[in-house]
Amino acid sequence: MKSFYVTTPIYYVNAAPHAGHAYTTIAADALKRALRLAGRRAFLLTGTDEHGQNIERVAREQGIPEQELCDRNSARFRAVFDSLDVAYDRFIRTTDEVHKRGVLAIWERVAKATAPDGRSAVYSGTYAGWYCPRCEGFKDEDELVQPDNRCLTHEQPCEWTEEQNLFFRLSAYSDWLKAEIESGRLRIDPEVRRNEVLAVIRDGLKDFSVSRARVKWGIPVPEQPDHVLYVWVDALSNYVTALGYADGDPLYREFWEQGGVRLHVVGKDIIRFHCLYWPALLKAAELPRPTHVFVQGHITKNGRKVAKSTGNIIDPEALIRDFGLDAVRYFLLREAPYGADWDFTDDAFLKRFNADLANDFGNLVSRALTMVHRYCDGRVPPRVAPGEDRSALVESCLARYEKLEFAGALSEVWAHVARANQAIVAFEPWTAAKDPARRGELDAFLYRLLEDVRLAALLVSPVMPRAATRVLAMLGRDGLASPDELGWGRLEPGTALSPVEPLFPRKEKPEAAGEAAAPAPIEKKKEKKTVSDVKKDAAPATPVAPAAAAEGVAIIGIEDFVKVDLRVGLVKEAQRVPKSDKLLQMQVDLGSEVRQIVAGIAEHYAPEQVVGRRIVVVANLAPRKLRGVESNGMVLAASPEGRAVLLAVDGDVAPGTKVK
Ligand code: MSP
Repeated sequence: MKSFYVTTPIYYVNAAPHAGHAYTTIAADALKRALRLAGRRAFLLTGTDEHGQNIERVAREQGIPEQELCDRNSARFRAVFDSLDVAYDRFIRTTDEVHKRGVLAIWERVAKATAPDGRSAVYSGTYAGWYCPRCEGFKDEDELVQPDNRCLTHEQPCEWTEEQNLFFRLSAYSDWLKAEIESGRLRIDPEVRRNEVLAVIRDGLKDFSVSRARVKWGIPVPEQPDHVLYVWVDALSNYVTALGYADGDPLYREFWEQGGVRLHVVGKDIIRFHCLYWPALLKAAELPRPTHVFVQGHITKNGRKVAKSTGNIIDPEALIRDFGLDAVRYFLLREAPYGADWDFTDDAFLKRFNADLANDFGNLVSRALTMVHRYCDGRVPPRVAPGEDRSALVESCLARYEKLEFAGALSEVWAHVARANQAIVAFEPWTAAKDPARRGELDAFLYRLLEDVRLAALLVSPVMPRAATRVLAMLGRDGLASPDELGWGRLEPGTALSPVEPLFPRKEKPEAAGEAAAPAPIEKKKEKKTVSDVKKDAAPATPVAPAAAAEGVAIIGIEDFVKVDLRVGLVKEAQRVPKSDKLLQMQVDLGSEVRQIVAGIAEHYAPEQVVGRRIVVVANLAPRKLRGVESNGMVLAASPEGRAVLLAVDGDVAPGTKVK
């Protein structure tokens, strides 16, 4: 079976870890976990980039030796990644001896290589140009902003620099690089990034200098000991030095030399180093090139660039404190396709938390387990064959993870979760439980439901390892997800389930921030005026999310209650509102007229389940639009555990009859 090697960029230790670093590292970790779940040999590397002028500068500013700065800050990255549950197999530091030995071994091969044009790959020359000490790179004219020749990225003046340096003849590798990329032997995703790289090649590649006279904090160049190796040559090499390249480590052979997939996950700011410099250096050294570079997009927040300088930051620690680590990992990988630029908003985070985690996933787990506690004495019922084959779901979900389509993989799991939630409503275990003749049917339903919960937990485990472990533990399965568990029927009949713990209790938006927190697109203010607020236990009308201020509900007099015109309605037609998981659009007969009413019950009722039902309608509510569809009234429903259970009319009452 092909091995799979996944790397993150190694992070500069001159700044503190932030959400951008976390994003890349969590994605790479989720990929590795998904590969392991699929039974693949996978290895995840991350680490810190510790040499170069910036480190020298910051150490000087702080009045401490460079190594001390590196030790301190590298430890911070490691601690953050540990707290993010990143299951790296190796954490490399470019100040590690094994790295330095490896860099020199690679350099030795590059230094004596012949380029494809027959000339030496490395040569001596003078470099003069605008140098950005922050990027540690020379800038082309079009990468400068005037006045002061400022770097586009860092907005700091560049320095005019002339040096007698060693150069790498990148220009001679253009055709080779182009062929590797066009053939897909070096895959670059997403395609827009691949095209960007090909355009850079088309514009003409320039040789780059690979030694630095002005920097001391680095690996000395053997041929020129007063120079250190260019920090990017040093840093890129980490991907092979970390595997023990210099020492003939079997890990190097397994994951690089003979490895199947060699994937670098990087940000879009460092594409050219990974897609051009690095493969060409490896070609010169006659070592295998990476097989795949996946470029992640950048995150903005509320439409503005995430930057310390503007104070617009995403504080992962605060989010973790408020919502838990799993929710943060889930949101980062679920909200936008991986690879795209996207905007982080607090509202979107809260909505996903409540809708996907609290409502869909959390409720499924707690309903399923609660029913087994209630109806089966808390023990797994007898094993039955699956109602439907689940292997297509497993296969497709794992394949999407492997393609770094995290959002796509998760949406498949959520479709599975929605099906399971709908199955509960359709089967009505609480009705079956009242009839001893239906015991076998009920047991079979609950066994399948528990297996569906178990499968959902396994399939979210790459992204939410803690929640998955907790669910599996509640089901009496210890240990983390493994490939053996992906088959049907691993739950042992008779196993006692642990008590049900809430996984993702709903969160409300802080009052000061205003606006509705509920997932359904309905304003809370209007919700508060519904009859659902009249009595604490009464059902909230649509939406099904419980009203936020249930406790603080005012006592009202009968004169207020009679203002609400409640009527019996007969559902004539129903259909889903396009592009909404939650909304159902119904034509309801109210005797004197047929009204269109939109209700947030689509996750719990299929259209065909409501047609022909008699329901209770708030008939004098001002019309409003939900997802662009006009609703003329509101349907009453109870909401046990966040579900929607329609209020029924006991008998053949004529549509339009007043309810009082
Ligand atoms: N040390 C180099 C990489 C050397 S790899 C051989 C470096 N380090 S860095 O600390 O600046 O980290 C850059 C990486 O962090 C980006 O490539 C990207 O993966 C991630 N991100 C930093 N800010 C980000 C955002 N605002 N959004 C998304 N990712 C971001 O470059």
